Amino acid sequence: MKVGIYSLGCKVNIYESEYIERLLKDNDFEIVSFDDEADIYIVNTCSVTNEADRKSRKVIRRARKNNPSSIVVAMGCYTQIRGNYISDVADIVIGNKDKSKIVELINEVIRDKNKINNIYDLSDEVVFEDMEISKFDNHTRAFVKIQDGCNAFCTYCIIPYTRGNIRSKKPGNVIREISNLVKNGYKEIVLTGIHTGKYGYDLENVSLESLLYDLVKIKGLYRMRLSSIEINEITDGIMDLIKNNKIIASHLHIPIQSGSNKILKLMNRRYNKEFFINKVMEIKKLREDISITTDLIVGFPGENEDDFKETIDTIDKIGFTKIHVFPYSKRDNTKASIMSNQVDGIIKKKRCKEILELSHRYEKLFYNKYVGCVMEGVSEVRKDNSSVVLTSNYISVIVSDEIDNNEIVKVKINKVDDDNFVYGDIIR
Ligand code: F3S
Repeated sequence: MKVGIYSLGCKVNIYESEYIERLLKDNDFEIVSFDDEADIYIVNTCSVTNEADRKSRKVIRRARKNNPSSIVVAMGCYTQIRGNYISDVADIVIGNKDKSKIVELINEVIRDKNKINNIYDLSDEVVFEDMEISKFDNHTRAFVKIQDGCNAFCTYCIIPYTRGNIRSKKPGNVIREISNLVKNGYKEIVLTGIHTGKYGYDLENVSLESLLYDLVKIKGLYRMRLSSIEINEITDGIMDLIKNNKIIASHLHIPIQSGSNKILKLMNRRYNKEFFINKVMEIKKLREDISITTDLIVGFPGENEDDFKETIDTIDKIGFTKIHVFPYSKRDNTKASIMSNQVDGIIKKKRCKEILELSHRYEKLFYNKYVGCVMEGVSEVRKDNSSVVLTSNYISVIVSDEIDNNEIVKVKINKVDDDNFVYGDIIR
């Protein structure tokens, strides 16, 4: 049977969808493009913003339209909290549990000609749903999901409701998975999770720090990247690793969300701007080439012009390489959704634009520092046959040379264009 898979949202979803794809292939299903006529469609949804909700619904409907008599499976964060909204369109609706049981669920629907709607409450869930991948069909880099769930309850965020309680993959399983990936030739491993810094919180004597120290010992591991980490979860031990171990990539994605102390407090973020600035300065001293990127929300309820200016001032002090900016999106059931002083959409748009321009300038500044330099990176030949080299500090250098995929190569950076695309030549 032919299956089309569509994944929305973050790297955790990407990992899970890759796992599902592998599982289906191992069980003799044929994976086809989502736009093709398939017998089964799987949509791994996201709910981080209203736009993500809308897109999730749209893709589920598109699946039904592609083949009205197909089996449509909807799963993930949107269905976890809004499963009932699409149960008329989808045949199998699950949330963020039992994704690894996909083959059994599909077989049950084929056999019994029934519908399945299984959404479990994950707020007290303690079991990490183990998945293991040894080969990625759609990515050059290998993603490894080490953790699920979030108990931080930032006031704007829906994710604690969609992903539930914190739970971690056992360190032995993480080590085995990464060792296998390294044996299979993967050069860069990206550790992903919903709240990665809380890895091990539910296990005895295990933390992200202890895991990282175990992982860097894996023989043959070239590079390991953390997909995201909170500023107050970067321990002294992790700082030491950044300083002394080049396996850890020279790139940290640290969400700041706001640069105003008033807004950070309203968001229930557990740091203030002074702490954030000082810590980033310490990190930058550890490695000259390190790139720090961030997420930022503008137009959070109560954010006035002065708060926004304060955010710009904080950003200027930090000097991020790139800022992923999002207009605040009101998520039902979150504390921020009922806060007064909701910000007008036009103002949010204007602030987004301002931050994007700022980000563009910072990005250019960072890349331009490396023009003329020779850097090492991992080659990636994309589906459209274009080739890039990804450096440790997350510069994607476009090259015109013919290269093999997933090789460690040297690249000389030649120029940065107006859109911040970086170009270079392979040095043989
Ligand atoms: Fe979206 Fe769920 Fe990830 S809400 S960003 S898919 S954790």
